[in-house]
Amino acid sequence: MTEIIINDKLLHLRNDHVSYVICLLEGGIPAHMYFGKRISGINPAAILRHYDLPADGSFSMQGCSLDHVPHEYPAFGLGDLREGAVSVRQQDGTRSVDLRVTATEVIDGKPALPGLPATFGDNAKTLLLHMKDMLIGLEVTLSYTLFDDVAGVMRNVSFRNASDADLVIERAYSLCLELPDSRYDLITLSGAWSREREMIRRPLTMGEQGVSSLKGATSLHNSNMLFLARPETTEEQGEAIGAALVYSGNFTAQVHVDSHRYSRAFLGLNDVDFQWTMKPGETFTTPEAVTVYSDKGLGGMSAQFHRVCAEHLVRGKYAKAPRPILLNNWEATYFGFNEEKLLKIARTAADVGVELFVLDDGWFGKRDNDTTSLGDWFVDTAKLPDGMKHLSDQVHAMGLKFGLWFEPEMISPVSKLYEAHPDWAIHIPGREPVQQRSQLTLDLSREDVQDFVYEAVAQHLREDGIDYVKWDMNRNFSNIGSAQLPADRQKELPHRYMLGLYRVLERLVNDFPEVLFESCSSGGGRFDMGMLHYMPQTWTSDNTDALCRCQIQYSTSLVFPPFAMGSHVSAVPNHQTGRITPIETRGNVAMSGCFGYELDLNTLSAEELDKVRGQIARIKGLRSTLLYGDFHRLLSPYEGNDTAWITVSKDQNEAVFMLTRALAKSFTYAPLIKLRGLAADKTYTVAETGESYTGDELMNLGLSVKLPWGDAASVSLTLKANA
Ligand code: GLA
Repeated sequence: MTEIIINDKLLHLRNDHVSYVICLLEGGIPAHMYFGKRISGINPAAILRHYDLPADGSFSMQGCSLDHVPHEYPAFGLGDLREGAVSVRQQDGTRSVDLRVTATEVIDGKPALPGLPATFGDNAKTLLLHMKDMLIGLEVTLSYTLFDDVAGVMRNVSFRNASDADLVIERAYSLCLELPDSRYDLITLSGAWSREREMIRRPLTMGEQGVSSLKGATSLHNSNMLFLARPETTEEQGEAIGAALVYSGNFTAQVHVDSHRYSRAFLGLNDVDFQWTMKPGETFTTPEAVTVYSDKGLGGMSAQFHRVCAEHLVRGKYAKAPRPILLNNWEATYFGFNEEKLLKIARTAADVGVELFVLDDGWFGKRDNDTTSLGDWFVDTAKLPDGMKHLSDQVHAMGLKFGLWFEPEMISPVSKLYEAHPDWAIHIPGREPVQQRSQLTLDLSREDVQDFVYEAVAQHLREDGIDYVKWDMNRNFSNIGSAQLPADRQKELPHRYMLGLYRVLERLVNDFPEVLFESCSSGGGRFDMGMLHYMPQTWTSDNTDALCRCQIQYSTSLVFPPFAMGSHVSAVPNHQTGRITPIETRGNVAMSGCFGYELDLNTLSAEELDKVRGQIARIKGLRSTLLYGDFHRLLSPYEGNDTAWITVSKDQNEAVFMLTRALAKSFTYAPLIKLRGLAADKTYTVAETGESYTGDELMNLGLSVKLPWGDAASVSLTLKANA
């Protein structure tokens, strides 16, 4: 149960798992005391003594050294000389703010964030720390929510201009977390197209470190999250803190270590291309930051993130429902299809048990390659002469659901839409727009553009029998300018874009609750908690090579559970790497996610097709465990030749284990792998071998697994608890 205990100046938020403690210093400056495993109480003297250095001439006010104390929401420029979390420009051009707590408020549950994705849930309590800068009339409220079932704190900040002059927010991070030492490794997920979210771990060091994005999206290159693990922390043991932003645009995730080895972590909107003018009476709300704590290693940290995603973030019909096994035609045909070709692929898919046929890029305008037509969301009758409904009817008649690809945030310069509305693109007047994939980004900060984008998709959802939407976004921001915003608000564009996108998505998911949405951005370029609030699954990467996917899915699972990850079996040689891997391996790796195929099944041999049939039948039987069970990483592809993981059903009666070895080795023993998450006192039978083991044996001694011959060899085993 969550409780928020307010004892004079001490505010202690805790549930069964964690404590978060704030102390109000003289004058109402909120100082951070503690975030970690639940404790019964705290004496702030100790932590303040730790920070209170001998007089060194540092700035002080009312007896405390502002440059040393751990702040909840520090502002640069009034005695704390470190970088702050907030900066607000005033009429006279100065930017310092002095925020003092004026009131504390405790509420049941968790308030929604206006226009932003956010966690939700009734089993929660929220502390609101109301602060004010008396000189300039700025009100700032820090919000902290604890859910009963999560070892973590959900935070965000809201601003209100209570003055009679404009106030311009220049920085408004969602999270500042002060840590009393720097003995941590910083882990980030960084990569590029087709190798998203490589796990990078390095010791924290003096100075500033972190990752960010200015690409207008979370990006393929860095994820909007950071993890701090003790150097000795492993997958199973040790302390780890994770923070992730519920947002999908520009961000910064930084840790600053100062000369006394205190660490200050920041997460929030990237202020390089951000500012926000608040007129008198107006408000501004930051995105939410999810912060979790684990004393059971990175595995324990992931379990908390997975719970947040499953119980407090994902919504709608498919939040906990089986996700349909799909076949997507992209790598099967690219742009070169017609109705007959598609139906041939769909027929075979239906025959082997696929449940959803997805038509990818190329069905609209005159899109025979990627140089035209984005924005012209009407069916290309050269490819589909009888229209989309005709195709979807035939697909439905095969017993399949029907899905369609859109990239609605984009506009091709070669399109009817661009001819009609060149000013709808993000652009700088007079400058030749820089193109990426021959396309520009629509200016979603504009309401008319938002309404166009909504209608472009909604019309097809209303008329064409669409059960699934793949919502793609394949371009970064450049030439950043909006034809509608005044000069002094151009820096609001990146965030206004996100608010516009969220408005469109909120309308669509509410108006079409039966439709399953999958988010995509050149693969996993916008794999974040923001998009997950609207779309329960994300295309993890354009790279479908089974060995690459071992890495990508392993590190993606640091935050995201299997039900969030789209993962498909594709053709060999693989279209991204040229590698040939067995169909079993491709299936084993893909099945720990939202499973599907990304190839023309008609090109497979009869024997392979039989295997596909077998894969599908098996996955259908195990689907609720595979998607919604507890996922445990066992062997890391970042540390060796083998990847292993296991998903265990919530009742611990069923588990699916996977081992994949990248390169074959000669004359080597069968690896003995300690499993996790099973019930110690249950006996499990491995369906494929008939062997039985107790849970405690499997978790303490391990399971020895014989791999097939050859490179990219893989085994997937089903464990069932004996009745
Ligand atoms: C992006 C997506 C792919 C595919 C193509 C279509 O790259 O990530 O899955 O949909 O666009 O152009």
